[in-house]
Amino acid sequence: MIDFHAHILPGADHGSDGLETSKAQLGCLFKEGITRVVATPHFYPQRHSVDTFLERRDRAKKEILTLKGAEMPEVYLGAEVLVCGGIDHMEGIERLCIEGTDVILLEMPFHTFREEHYEAVYRIGRMGLRPVMAHVDRYPREDIARLCEECDVMCQINAEVLSGFGGSKRLSKLFDTCNIVAFGSDIHGSDKKAAKSLARLYNKTGDAGREVLDSSRALLSDAKNIFE
Ligand SMILES: [Fe+2]
Repeated sequence: MIDFHAHILPGADHGSDGLETSKAQLGCLFKEGITRVVATPHFYPQRHSVDTFLERRDRAKKEILTLKGAEMPEVYLGAEVLVCGGIDHMEGIERLCIEGTDVILLEMPFHTFREEHYEAVYRIGRMGLRPVMAHVDRYPREDIARLCEECDVMCQINAEVLSGFGGSKRLSKLFDTCNIVAFGSDIHGSDKKAAKSLARLYNKTGDAGREVLDSSRALLSDAKNIFE
C-alpha cells in the first residue's frame, strides 16, 4: 500500500519533532503494510520561499537517510502546498512536485474558497503540473465538486474519513464526484491510529481501493525513493 500524504520528515514541519518520531512513524506505517510513503511537509507560501523550504526539507532528508537499512517503507519527497491567490506565479513552484514527477499535492485554505483560489489551481494545471488535491474529505462537497469540474484536479482522501459519523456514505459520495487517485494517512506525530486507519481504508474499499492504488503507482512511476 501507498501513503500519499504524510508528515514524517524530522523538523521539516510540525509533523515530526525529531528522528526518533520519524522512525516510529515509518515503523508504524510499515507494520500496517504501507511500503511506500510520500513525505509531504507543509509549504505555506506566506511563510516560506521555495528555496528555504527545500533547504529545510533537505536537512530532514539527510537525517532520515541515517535510518537506511531499517525495516521501513520507501520514502519520496514532496510537499503539501497551501493554495493562495497567485501562487501559480511563485518562483520555483514546480520544484515542490514529488521529486522525479510533475505531480503536486495542494491543499485549499481553511476558510471559504474564493475565485482566486480556483483560478490558481486551474493555472497550476495549465502550467503542465498535475495537481492532486489533498484530503478532499475535509472540504464542503459543493466546493470540491466545483474544483473537480472546473480545475480538473485529481483527489486524495485521508484515512480518517471512515472514523467519523456517516464516513462510509461520505466516502462513496466522494468516489461518485471526484477522481480519487490516492489515499493518505496525513500522519502527524506518533499517532498509531493514522497508519491503522489507512490500512483499513484500503481494505474497506476493495476494488475501488485497488484502483486508487493503481493510480497512485502510476503517478509515482518516475518518483525517486530517497534510500536508493
Ligand atoms: Fe497534511
